[in-house]
Amino acid sequence: MKLTHLFVLFLIVTVPAALAVPAFAADGANTYKAKCAACHGPDGQGRVGPALKGTSLGADDIVALLSKGNEAKKAPHKKGISGVSADDAKAVAEFVKGLK
Ligand code: HEC
Repeated sequence: MKLTHLFVLFLIVTVPAALAVPAFAADGANTYKAKCAACHGPDGQGRVGPALKGTSLGADDIVALLSKGNEAKKAPHKKGISGVSADDAKAVAEFVKGLK
């Protein structure tokens, strides 16, 4: 096989794989935009919900709040947020912790 053929084969195999990965990886920023920003503001500055940037909660606390909810909190956090998988919850918690 010629070297160029190998290269083309390489591209055929790797390019779709590289493109496919982000579609499956949990994206905290996207989840935040879709599920949280309406209440907590696009930059976490707060709106209906409290500001999240600089929150004293740890990422694990946020994951727990999103996946299980907390009876002591107001809606929508009495229950877990629907449509947020465990991976999404983790990614969005990291995103929230990174808000400045
Ligand atoms: C419908 C509006 C709404 C949506 C959507 C929403 N929240 Fe909230 N959130 C609130 C309200 C209201 C509170 C305050 C609850 C309380 O203190 O009882 C809150 C509280 C929180 C807290 C606790 C803040 C603190 O300092 O105690 C965190 C963390 C949080 N939300 C994260 C998120 C994340 C992440 C998402 C997206 C997955 C999200 N919320 C979606 C309204 C919302």
